[in-house]
Amino acid sequence: MIMDFELKTLTRARLCTEKCDALIVLMPENPAPSDDALSQLAASAIKSGDFETKPGKLLCSYRVTGLSATRLVLVGCGDGSARNVRTAAVAAMNTLKNSNAKRVVLSLCNLNNLSSDVVCTALVACGDAAYSYVTTKSKPAPFKLEKLLLAVPDLAKVKPGFDKGRALVKGIELAKEWANRPSNYATPVMLAGAAKALAKLPNIKADILGPKEVDKLGMGSFMAVAQGSAEPLRFMVLHYTGAAKAEAPIVLIGKGITFDTGGISIKPAGDMDEMKFDMCGAASVLGVFRTLADLKPAINVIGLIPACENMPDGRAIKPSDVVTSMSGQTIEILNTDAEGRLVLCDALTYAERFKPRAVVDIATLTGACVVALGAVRSGLFSSNDGLAKALLDAGESSLDLCWRMPLDDEYAEGLKTNFADVANVAGRAGGAVTAAKFLQRFAARFAWAHLDIAGTAWKSGAAKGATGRPVALLVDYLLSQADNSKVSAVRKRARPA
Ligand code: BES
Ligand code: MN
Ligand code: ZN
Repeated sequence: MIMDFELKTLTRARLCTEKCDALIVLMPENPAPSDDALSQLAASAIKSGDFETKPGKLLCSYRVTGLSATRLVLVGCGDGSARNVRTAAVAAMNTLKNSNAKRVVLSLCNLNNLSSDVVCTALVACGDAAYSYVTTKSKPAPFKLEKLLLAVPDLAKVKPGFDKGRALVKGIELAKEWANRPSNYATPVMLAGAAKALAKLPNIKADILGPKEVDKLGMGSFMAVAQGSAEPLRFMVLHYTGAAKAEAPIVLIGKGITFDTGGISIKPAGDMDEMKFDMCGAASVLGVFRTLADLKPAINVIGLIPACENMPDGRAIKPSDVVTSMSGQTIEILNTDAEGRLVLCDALTYAERFKPRAVVDIATLTGACVVALGAVRSGLFSSNDGLAKALLDAGESSLDLCWRMPLDDEYAEGLKTNFADVANVAGRAGGAVTAAKFLQRFAARFAWAHLDIAGTAWKSGAAKGATGRPVALLVDYLLSQADNSKVSAVRKRARPA
C-alpha cells in the first residue's frame, strides 16, 4: 500500500532498457515524433486500430522484444491535461492489481510541456489506485506494488509537483484508512489515538479532551449526541504551526460521528453499515495534517474533531429534547438523526478562541446533498465570497470539485420553533441548505465555509470504500493561503516603520 516513489529523468530511448516488472507509458494524442522503439510500437498499434490515445484506453503486452520491462502497458491520455492523465494512470494501475508487479515505472516522457501539476496528479492517481484495505482481513492480499518510478524528461522542472504529490498520497491514504475501518475499529478513542500519532510529526501538536473537559466547556449539544453511546466521546484539537505564532490560523472542523444509527429517530437497516463513514470529515482533517507535516507551508492551521457515536439507548436524546449549546443558544432536537449539526455547532463556537482567519467545516451532513449533487461535487456553503472563491478554485486545481450552494435567510424559516431558540431540522425541502443555515447561526464571528461531503466521501456498491476526499481540495486551499500570507509578511517588512 505505501509505495516508495522515485522521480528520474529518462529519455524515451532509455525507457526501453529500464528494468522493471511493469512499464506504463502514457500516450497523448499529439506526441512529439520520436524514433525510439516504444514510440514506433505505439504508432503502429494506433495505425492497426489496436490502440487509441483516448483517455484510459489500454494496450497490455508481455515480454516485448527489445524491452527490459516484463509487462508493458500503453495507455491513452488524450490531450495530456491533468484530468486525462488521472484517468490514464488509474486505468493503467488497475490492470496491475492482481499481478505480481512490484517495481513499476510510469513514463510521462511523451507529454509535451509536462507541468509540475500534472506530475502531482499522476502521483495522486497512482497512490489512489494502489491503496487496498486489509486491516480487518485474516488473510490480507494487499497490492504487491512496492516501488513506483516516475520517468520524466526534466526532473528539476517537476520536482515540486512530485514532492506535493507524495505528501498528498500519504494524507489521502490516512484519510481513507480511518474512514474505511469499521466502527468497532475506529471508535472516538481510537480516532484520538490517530490524532496523537500525528502529533509525533514535526510542527504538529494534539490536545485530546474527554467527557469531563467537554462538559466543563459547556458543549451541551455535542454531549447530548454522545449520551446514548457506551463509547466515550473525544474532542481533538490539532495544531499545525508553520508560520509565526501571532499569525491567525485557519481552522478545519471535521464531523467525527464514528457510527450514525440515527439514534431514537433510527435509520432503516438497509445500507446502515455505510454510516461507519460518518466520520469522513474527521478523517479528511487527519489526512490534511499528515500532508502538512511533509509540505511545511508557512501557515498556521487548527484541526477540531468532535467524535462520538449516535446510538439509541435508555439514556439517548429523544425528539422534543432541548439542549443548550456552548454558544448559549438552546436547540430543540426534533430528529435525533440530524446529529452532525449538533456536534459541529459546539466545535464552531470553540473555534472562536483562535480568532481565526477562516473556519471550514467538513461533514457528511445530509442525504439531501447526495440527492442534489451526487458523487461528483461536494456542496460548498459560505457567506464569504472570498473564502468561497478560494475553495472553489482549490477544488478545480486539485480535481476535487465542489459547487457553491445558496444560503438565503428564507431557508432558515423552517428551523423556527416554539420551544427553543432553534430546531435542529426543518422540512424535507432543501435539506442540505437548511442544515447549513443551522450551522451558520454558530459561525457569525468569523469567515466561515461548510463542505457537505455526504456524496463524495465514499463510494457504495462493489467498489464500496472511502475516497479520501476532500483532502486534496483542502490542501490546495491551505497552500493558496500560505502563499498569500508570505506575500503579506514580505509587504509588512517592506513598509517603513
Ligand atoms: N450522516 C447523515 C447524512 C447522510 C445520510 C450522509 C446518508 C450520507 C448518506 C446525517 O447525520 C443524517 O442522518 N442526516 C439526515 C438529516 C435529516 C434528519 C434532516 C438526513 O440526511 O436524512
Ligand atoms: Mn444522522
Ligand atoms: Zn450523521
